[in-house]
Amino acid sequence: MIIAVDGPAASGKGTIARALAVHYDLPHLDTGLLYRAVGVATARAGRDPDVEADAVAGCRIDETLLTDPELRTEVAGALASRVSRHPAVRAALLEYQQAFARQPGGAVLDGRDIGTVIAPDADAKLFVTASTEVRAQRRHREDALTDYDAILADIEARDARDSGRSAAPLRQADDADLLDTTDMTIGAAVQRAIALVEARIRR
Ligand code: CDP
Repeated sequence: MIIAVDGPAASGKGTIARALAVHYDLPHLDTGLLYRAVGVATARAGRDPDVEADAVAGCRIDETLLTDPELRTEVAGALASRVSRHPAVRAALLEYQQAFARQPGGAVLDGRDIGTVIAPDADAKLFVTASTEVRAQRRHREDALTDYDAILADIEARDARDSGRSAAPLRQADDADLLDTTDMTIGAAVQRAIALVEARIRR
């Protein structure tokens, strides 16, 4: 079974995807981490994330970079959003993600284009969202050292860039179930996600 989980920054999609992977005993891939690694590698090499050829050079990711805590920062998120709009970067990461999705037994993947591009044939697709303010509050709780207004501005900029780009923009797949977590606890959101997946696979 392939489960696709997409949505904007801090919507809860990563937590939900991890919980679904545990519940169904499936491997999980956080595809945002790949783009974050490309963004950070590009910046560390002194290259320009807005120049496609520079960002493509950052696609040869060293596996150890994927565990670097710097990847979790909002700076890395913004770098990821800049490199991820280049079609050649998306193409370079496509095969790895599709092979992960199609492994025997299936997988759970979360990102921005899983239900639309990476696994359009997924058995269940969730589009996880929440209000911008709630998403900024969640990030602020994880990163209390950064000013709330700066986080809110960053999330708004990232949403605009991710939704407005021409290559695989962030959008809900036609056959995805919408899960708005604005007023939900993590536990309630996970229960709802499982119920939506169950309803899909019983159809
Ligand atoms: O955790 P959060 O939602 O803040 O970010 P993420 O999922 O780690 O993704 C970071 C950035 O990578 C996003 O803002 C997107 O620009 C990009 N991304 C993408 O383009 N496609 C994906 N499948 C995953 C992430």
